Amino acid sequence: MVKKYELVSVRALAERVNEYVIYAPEIAKHCLAGQFVILRVDEDGERVPFTICDYSREDGTVCILVQEVGYTTALLARMKTGECLADLVGPLGNPTDLSAYRRILLIGGGIGSAVIYPQTKQLFGEGKSADVIIGARNEGLLIYRERFARFAKNLYEVTDDGSGGRKGFVTDVARELLERGEKYDVAFAVGPLPMMRAVCRLTAEFSLPTVVSMNPLMVDGTGMCGCCRLTVGGEVRYACIDGPEFDGHQVDFDEAMQRLRTYKTQEEEHMCRLRGAL
Ligand SMILES: Cc1cc2nc3c(=O)[nH]c(=O)nc-3n(C[C@H](O)[C@H](O)[C@H](O)COP(=O)(O)OP(=O)(O)OC[C@H]3O[C@@H](n4cnc5c(N)ncnc54)[C@H](O)[C@@H]3O)c2cc1C
Ligand code: FES
Repeated sequence: MVKKYELVSVRALAERVNEYVIYAPEIAKHCLAGQFVILRVDEDGERVPFTICDYSREDGTVCILVQEVGYTTALLARMKTGECLADLVGPLGNPTDLSAYRRILLIGGGIGSAVIYPQTKQLFGEGKSADVIIGARNEGLLIYRERFARFAKNLYEVTDDGSGGRKGFVTDVARELLERGEKYDVAFAVGPLPMMRAVCRLTAEFSLPTVVSMNPLMVDGTGMCGCCRLTVGGEVRYACIDGPEFDGHQVDFDEAMQRLRTYKTQEEEHMCRLRGAL
């Protein structure tokens, strides 16, 4: 019998990027595109948030894509199919709501493509297929290419080094599309903060409303600790309960970047201890 929070499947998708399918029927029953979970690898583990990038209500599973960047994601990368997480909380955050829009441009940078995949699939299911741009440092890091190709109206792939798709950044492709007169009602961009900021600067030039999915540090995920605080339109907002999606033209990206760097020293110490233990 499958156990609660058991890793039903663990699959390497790219260098330091793994896909985990987790048995969590009560989360699978209620979750929607755009929401996330917070997990702990073991009883003493820190709580880390990941977007639900797919789910199966029938199998009672949720799927997350995880990039190994630090301590907890490195511990997770060492787990095997059949092992269980200590706990998993969710679905958290607000589902994405693009229902007011018809012509949609989805832009995913790096692991941010994990967030735009469920939107792409959902929009296709609603008969509103979207144009999709996915970007990564190199071809090996372009994830879910075949799946995007199935559900996107037009798929544009781009890599920093030109090893896959065309060479350049997601903003180069977006600029080309907008300059040649493609009409969109909204852009939805997810990726590293500098990428989302660059997309927002570009779309502001074309007065294209833009939604971004913010990824600040989080602890409780319920609006109590204040860790995920952001400034949006001059007001304090909490990504875990007010987001994670916000009007990108209103987000204070400089502050968000500075807050994400707050615990850099402690995070590096953590990694040194982990390496020492192996
Ligand atoms: C709502 C939400 C959804 C997310 N979805 C995904 C996802 O689908 N897949 C995925 O791989 N990651 C996702 N993240 C980021 C993920 O939570 C962090 O990468 C993870 O917490 C890092 O933990 P760590 O202990 O391995 O790294 P740490 O040792 O804590 O940090 C290592 C490095 O990663 C950076 N980092 C830490 N936390 C974050 C963060 N929240 N966002 C970006 N960089 C961070 C640190 O600044 C540091 O440079 C999401 C974050 C949020 C808030
Ligand atoms: S994570 Fe604590 S308030 Fe959002």
